Amino acid sequence: DNSSAPVVVVLDGPAGTGKSTVSREIAARLGLSFLDTGAMYRAVTYWMLANEVDVDDVDAVALASDKPAVVSGTDADGPTITVDGVDVSGPIREQAVTAAVSAVSAVPEVRTRMVELQRASALAAPRGIVAEGRDMGTVVFPRADLKVFLTASAETRAARRAAQLGITDAGEITAILVDINRRDAADSGRATAPLRKADDAVEVDTSEMSPEQVVTHIIGLVRDRAAAR
Ligand code: DC
Repeated sequence: DNSSAPVVVVLDGPAGTGKSTVSREIAARLGLSFLDTGAMYRAVTYWMLANEVDVDDVDAVALASDKPAVVSGTDADGPTITVDGVDVSGPIREQAVTAAVSAVSAVPEVRTRMVELQRASALAAPRGIVAEGRDMGTVVFPRADLKVFLTASAETRAARRAAQLGITDAGEITAILVDINRRDAADSGRATAPLRKADDAVEVDTSEMSPEQVVTHIIGLVRDRAAAR
């Protein structure tokens, strides 16, 4: 019986699958910590832009990669993200950051540093952690207790993102779809830690599921794994 050992649950998948909402809710209900690793890459990107580092210059980004002090608070009831002590939870969602984050997160030096922080967060989590991102199951936590890979059609994901932002204009929704497809291609096509389903991950297509259905389904999977430990 291994039931008191900290549990690691990971969710990977492309943008707009509901990963963040669902992961945070699962963590809250199970009393686990929560780690939004996309927010960490966004925070580094925000710092690069604020400090006028050319995000398309790989060497410049690599050289600056150890400068921003990113701290991710892992309380599922109120996650926080700071850079150099400043709360950046608002600015990291702005379009300029979203447009630049794929380039910054493709730089190996940036990833090495984030992976260290992510593993440290998991080690510090008293009961365990729910971590979400692109490479949680493949790179950061290869021995996770449960790996989930969330999918949804690009159209579904664009519609969700639009609803989140309060956008109803068809042209703007199409622009979101174009951006999602561009980011998927960049995240899946990069050389270092591309977005990919781990061989031992359970794939969940959320296109026809409500967030509550996804949460309930995954909590069921966690309980099955825990029972088997
Ligand atoms: O989940 P998100 O949209 O906040 O992620 C922002 C970007 O960060 C995404 O385009 C890819 C990158 N990312 C990554 O490379 N690895 C992760 N583990 C999480 C996010």
